[in-house]
Amino acid sequence: MKAVILVGGLGTRLRPLTCNTPKPMIPLVNQPFIEWMLLRLRDQGISEVILAVQYLADRFRETLGDGSRLEMTLHIVEEPEPRGTAGAVKNVEHLLDGPTFVFNGDVMTDLDLRAMLAFHREKQSMVTISLTPVDDPTQFGLVEMDGQNRVQRFLEKPRAEDITTNLINAGTYIIEPEIFRYVPPNQFYMFERGLFPVVLQTGDPMYGFPSRAYWTDIGKPQTYIDVHHDILIGKVRYGFRGQQIADRVWLEGDAEIHPTAQIVGPVVIGPGTVIERGARVIGPSVLGANCSIGPECSLEGAVLWDANRLEEGVVLRNCVLGRGNQIGARTQIVDGAIIGDACSLGPENRLERGIRVWPNTNLGERAISF
Ligand code: GDD
Ligand code: MG
Repeated sequence: MKAVILVGGLGTRLRPLTCNTPKPMIPLVNQPFIEWMLLRLRDQGISEVILAVQYLADRFRETLGDGSRLEMTLHIVEEPEPRGTAGAVKNVEHLLDGPTFVFNGDVMTDLDLRAMLAFHREKQSMVTISLTPVDDPTQFGLVEMDGQNRVQRFLEKPRAEDITTNLINAGTYIIEPEIFRYVPPNQFYMFERGLFPVVLQTGDPMYGFPSRAYWTDIGKPQTYIDVHHDILIGKVRYGFRGQQIADRVWLEGDAEIHPTAQIVGPVVIGPGTVIERGARVIGPSVLGANCSIGPECSLEGAVLWDANRLEEGVVLRNCVLGRGNQIGARTQIVDGAIIGDACSLGPENRLERGIRVWPNTNLGERAISF
């Protein structure tokens, strides 16, 4: 069976992390998220996957190529312009040859795909939509069903007063290719606002498959931080690399930790990273490759991508640093602040309350202070 993964979105809500890195390529515990997703599909028996790319398409080609490194067959197909979720699959229709899994490329889940396929077959469904319960459906696609799980209503980004259920579209579908006759070619067209409402009109069988599997859309800064937490405390199975050197502390390759540094797990430390005298790293935290954590720095709930250099006494709490940043002494980055790539932040700044700093920003000493 084949699968299509939709990875063409701009990842607007995750900017500035997605300025240089498409959302599905951003690292989760030091591994591009899409790689984990592909391996999960391979392990569930799907070894031929089509990636529908658009934004920053080359980044996918550079990292994944034809898939042979992951022992799978990968077709990376670029849309001439964004075609929307259904238009993107229509664009690769010629590669489909039977019921096909379609995935949103920003959902972290351990959904049982075989069980979903068995359900799809049993119901003789044309479109099966995986569903998950959430607290606030307004950010998602609301799905109402009858007692036999047949979909009765699909409402994308419902208003609060339209909420009738907590079950939403979890972003995994099984689709019979015939259904694409309803999708206009060479146009922007969405499953959520186009095809699903049309299928409700035509009466083709469309079913919902609810599940309580782990589920998070990683497309927002706080959920991106939270999902690291969930992985590190073992709430979702995610095989990350590294050798366990202490209670819930994993080291990849040749990282160096000063004997006076204090590491309290769960923490993952990437290869080539150096942690200096008196620094404290409190989990859940992830340090990418080749980072340097200066003396007396204090980190807690921090996610750092590769090649970040922190000078003495930097404080990071519940924040994300992209790639290759230089952080001056005693600067504090806290409360959901997000720093892009290749920024140079001078000493004694304080960045807080979800502030987002764009790539290549240079900030002087005490430019934003406390
Ligand atoms: N190839 C391609 N082309 N991919 C696209 C395009 C496009 O034009 N537009 C969006 N995508 C991809 C995104 O990269 C992402 O992986 C997926 O389609 C969903 O887009 P999002 O922008 O993340 O949508 P959302 O999170 O607001 O809502 C969707 O996901 C929810 C679950 O997380 C909808 O499907 C909701 O109904 C659903 O509940
Ligand atoms: Mg999303």
